[in-house]
This record gives sequence, structure tokens and C-alpha cells, in this order.
Amino acid sequence: MDRAAVRAGELALSVDSTSFAQLPGADLLGRVAPMLQWQHRRAEHGLWPYFRSFRTPLAAHAVAVTEDGRITEGVNFGCQDYLSLSTHPLVHEAAAKALRDYGPITAGALGLNGGQPLGEELGAGLGDMLGFEHCLLFPTGWAAGYGTIQSLITKHDHVLLDKLAHNSLRQGAAAATANVRYFAHLDNDSARAQLRAIRSVDSRNAILVVTEGVFSMDSDAPALRELIGICREYGATLMVDVAHDFGATGPDGLGQLGAQQVLDDVDLVVGAFSKSFATTGGFLVTRSAAVHAYVRLYGGPQTFSSALTPVQLAVALAALRVIRSPEGAQRRESVERIAIRVRDGLAAHGHHCMGNVVCPVVPVLLGSTEVARLAWRLVSEHGVITNLAEPPAVPADRARFRLQAMADHTPDDADQVVRTLDTAIRSAKKAFDDPR
Ligand SMILES: Cc1ncc(COP(=O)(O)O)c(C=O)c1O
Repeated sequence: MDRAAVRAGELALSVDSTSFAQLPGADLLGRVAPMLQWQHRRAEHGLWPYFRSFRTPLAAHAVAVTEDGRITEGVNFGCQDYLSLSTHPLVHEAAAKALRDYGPITAGALGLNGGQPLGEELGAGLGDMLGFEHCLLFPTGWAAGYGTIQSLITKHDHVLLDKLAHNSLRQGAAAATANVRYFAHLDNDSARAQLRAIRSVDSRNAILVVTEGVFSMDSDAPALRELIGICREYGATLMVDVAHDFGATGPDGLGQLGAQQVLDDVDLVVGAFSKSFATTGGFLVTRSAAVHAYVRLYGGPQTFSSALTPVQLAVALAALRVIRSPEGAQRRESVERIAIRVRDGLAAHGHHCMGNVVCPVVPVLLGSTEVARLAWRLVSEHGVITNLAEPPAVPADRARFRLQAMADHTPDDADQVVRTLDTAIRSAKKAFDDPR
């Protein structure tokens, strides 16, 4: 069965999407066709995991269907609802009430009548939880990272990012200045060396250093206390994106900022609602009223994109209440137990789960993109919904599964995922060792 896929051709198994980015030619619309051929080729062999959709709520067991109609019905380790709050009755009640009270849409962008009392309450709650006075809401987590950097940084400033920083942060930096540099992933010495180099030629302009609380592709976290010290040494400002860890991990749900006790010392924090808060949206917290007002006025996604809807605000607010309650702590413990069980189970079968922290994401390193694509097809055929991470989302030869645990998973779910992955990975590797 797998040999056919192995032999199906270079296009389906080994080529990645970078081959079709930046295609040259005068025919702007025609020149993009090879990408679609590649996509079709992959889909023909069941090797196209993208643009799949769920046909059920995002519960621990669900049904997902690929674009070409391949159905996976089974245990769901493929969504970001880490605390299982998208199916929580309080969240649903809050959404229904907001719809009744305020309707389905806002008047426009925040600056143009788009505000809502629910938004004020949500901002105040988030600020209170994190210990920052000012909170600004954004239409998405992506917009929060992008809009904060793009609005605060001028073309003379510098942005220094962790090499694996999220696309929103990279694009925000690229939109603001040509002075963008990267330091080696989690490597504070590398960050220090780059800061020293920048300051040796420019003491007049600002430097923003950007990292994440937990890097979700790798399940690892930076040493923040040391990084804060280095930023201070060189007069740089530190921004941390806590999209994946805030709410879902750490003491009182405070993620790595709480775990490393650095909340009082970080300058700017951005985050997303799309992981632990059961809806879409993002935020920035700051201690400065002026920064809040500035990003609000000059942040592109603030001024030119409509504000979060009443339903989104009500859902995030209801999720925040659960997250801050004893039930939130129980949900964090549950998801952590599942993540540890999956990690331990896979490790016992000789697989490498990446990371230096336990968080709901369990990245399982496979290496070869070809093996990973085939293994993904096999697990999908055997009732496990999960995500494949392949280049360019990860470096060449570092393809992996990205399992996402949820609070509602049971130990049996965890064991099933371990068994299915183990069998699939072995079969896929064998198919490549012996592709006759
Ligand atoms: C670090 C980080 N920031 C921002 C985002 C974007 O969040 P959203 O999908 O809510 O726009 C993500 C998405 O996964 C992320 O990993």
C-alpha cells in the first residue's frame, strides 16, 4: 500500500511549498499553476493535510475531512483548544447572551465605534491577570504581534527576533524597518552578541527584542530572566508573545512569564485567544498609557480592521473566568497529564518528543519530510486527527507531528494516539527502507 505512495513521484513526497513561492515570469496569473499541480499530486496520494475542516465540535473525539473528501473520525489531537473550553456550557451561554444583547457584529474598527462594554471588561480582566495596567484587543493573535511591532518601530529602529519567532512577528518587523536581525533559537549569548553589534554602531535608535513564551513547533521556552538582563544592558525593549502558554500552563495560567517569575520585568506582552480562550482574537498588554494609545492609533490592524464581535468578546471573557477559577487549574493539570502520558508513551517506543517544557503541544520529531507525510496519511486513516509540520514551517530534515493535547482527553485517548503513531511511523520508515 505504501510502496505506491513512495514511488508516486518526487512531487508528492519530497518537494515542499518553497519550490513554488516567488515564481518568476511575466504572466502573473498563469505562472502560479505548478503549485496547484503539486497540491493535486499530493492529494491524489492522500498526502495533502492542509485545508482540512472539522465536521463536528472541537471535542476530544471529532470528525475531520480533507479537501478531497478523506474522512478521519476519531481521537482529536489536531486542534488548539487546549483547555477544551470551546465545548464548555458557560462559554456557550455567554456567546448566546452576547448575540441576543448586542447582535452579531461591531460597528467597525475600535477607533470608529467598534468598542463594546464586553471588550472593556475583557481588557481589564486580562490586564489584571497579567499585572499590566493597559490592554488593547486585536482582531486576531496574528494582528496583535504584527500591529504592535509595525506601529511602534520606525525605519531607523532595530528589531531582533528569535530565529523561530512566529510569522506575525517577523512580518511586523519587516513592515516596520529593514534593520531586522535574528538570534539563534533560545540562545541568549547569540542575542547578546547581536545587541552588542547593533549598539556599537547605533546608540540613538530603539531596539525591540522579540521572543515567545513557548515556541509551539518545538515546545521549548527561552530563559527569560537572563534575556531581560541582557536587554537592559543594551537599552533594548523586550516583547514576549504568549499565544500558546498563557491560560494553558504555568501557575494560575500565567504561562512561562509566571513560571519564570518575570511578569514585573517584561516590557510588552502580546497573546492570542485562539488557543486557550476558545475564540479568535489577540491582545497587547503594557504598563504605559501612552504606548496603549499609540498602538491603538497607529497599529494597522487596529485602525483598518473591524473590532472583535460581541460573541468573540463574550467567549473570551467566559473562558478567562474559567481559566482564573479552580476549574481552570484542574483543566491545566488534566492537559498536562495527557501531554506527559503521550510523551512518556512515545519515548518508551523509542520516538523523540521535542522540547524543554511540558505544554499541550507534543512535537514528535520524524526528520525526513517523506516519512512524515506518509506517516501522517497512515495515522489519519487509523482514526487520529493530528497535524504534520513540514518545511518551510520547520527546517529541512526536521519534519514532525505536532500533537495538541486537550483537557478533555482521557488516558485511553493518549494511549491510542501513542499506539497509532508508533505503528504509522514504523510502517512509513519501512516503506522508505524497502520501497519495492
Ligand atoms: C506565537 C504565535 N503568535 C500568534 C499566533 C497567531 O494567532 P491567531 O491564530 O490567533 O491569529 C500564533 C498562532 O499559532 C502563534 O503561534
